[in-house]
Amino acid sequence: MTSVLDPQPTTAPEAADPMTPVPYRLERLRQDTRDTFTLELEPVAGPPLAYRAGQFTMLDAFGVGEVPISISGDPTRPGPLEHTIRDVGVVTHALVTAEEGAVLGVRGPFGTTWDVADGEGGDVVLVAGGIGLAPLRPALLELIGHRDRYGRVVLLYGARTPEDILFGDELRTWAVDHGVTVEVTVDNGQHAWRGKVGLVTHLVPRAGFDARNTLALVCGPEVMMRYAASALVDRGVPAGRVRLSMERSMKCGVGLCGHCQLRELFVCVDGPVLTYDRLAPLLTCREL
Ligand SMILES: Cc1cc2nc3c(=O)[nH]c(=O)nc-3n(C[C@H](O)[C@H](O)[C@H](O)COP(=O)(O)OP(=O)(O)OC[C@H]3O[C@@H](n4cnc5c(N)ncnc54)[C@H](O)[C@@H]3O)c2cc1C
Ligand code: FES
Repeated sequence: MTSVLDPQPTTAPEAADPMTPVPYRLERLRQDTRDTFTLELEPVAGPPLAYRAGQFTMLDAFGVGEVPISISGDPTRPGPLEHTIRDVGVVTHALVTAEEGAVLGVRGPFGTTWDVADGEGGDVVLVAGGIGLAPLRPALLELIGHRDRYGRVVLLYGARTPEDILFGDELRTWAVDHGVTVEVTVDNGQHAWRGKVGLVTHLVPRAGFDARNTLALVCGPEVMMRYAASALVDRGVPAGRVRLSMERSMKCGVGLCGHCQLRELFVCVDGPVLTYDRLAPLLTCREL
């Protein structure tokens, strides 16, 4: 029983420090393609991380470094924290070669979200390039979880080669079991590939959706996003209904260091998901 003489807390418990990594154990590592892996993480202690589609964490390979990685799991179901990572450099290599059972650090979740519910009652188009399908997967799983609330759901996905296609089994399930129109194209279609060859942006003009009543979500290399957003707007999707997930070099993830600055925006807190009407003047002009 508590006595009136017992010291009582005078303030609410402090929120966790967003700069301190929380230890997570690598429960499972799955190889998706030759250079891309999905990590399933569980907290060493405490509850699983609550997050929303589009958010990212800062993943820490202790002793090597920390990088921003989007969460690629299903935000509507409890389960391990998933990240799908392309092995491109020092830190990503350390993450994708970690042993199962290893402890990694997680900060976050950080950043803005896809807010897919804004598309309810209309069509939703997702345009993904390469590893960009991973940050879009939580949005797609959320759409599928409430499939009856949306009209057409269209996924346009471009990979470098057939061997680079991510989540191949899931692409079929999304199409067959959940009424998602999935169109895949590759840049280089040698071997037994019988599908489309060419840029994913070229799929936008002919895809079946009601442009005026569409929410569009785009993720991939910046130049691809710029052309995809422009093609969507040309089709008639309002620029404010086109959302892009931006990548910039990041250190703090919480708006303190300025590493991720894009003119007046800090991508870690104002983004990563931003609307095209806001981004269009800031995107660099490069040729495809
Ligand atoms: C919000 C956000 C979400 C991201 N989500 C994912 C994800 O889901 N999966 C994934 O694989 N990657 C994702 N990235 C990119 C990832 O953070 C970089 O690949 C990583 O920081 C590279 O670090 P490294 O030490 O392995 O490579 P480095 O040794 O630092 O660099 C290797 C190569 O990658 C390039 N590079 C480095 N950082 C970035 C960057 N931020 N964006 C683009 N190119 C970069 C370098 O120019 C160099 O060519 C995301 C980035 C951001 C900002
Ligand atoms: S990463 Fe430090 S301000 Fe965005």
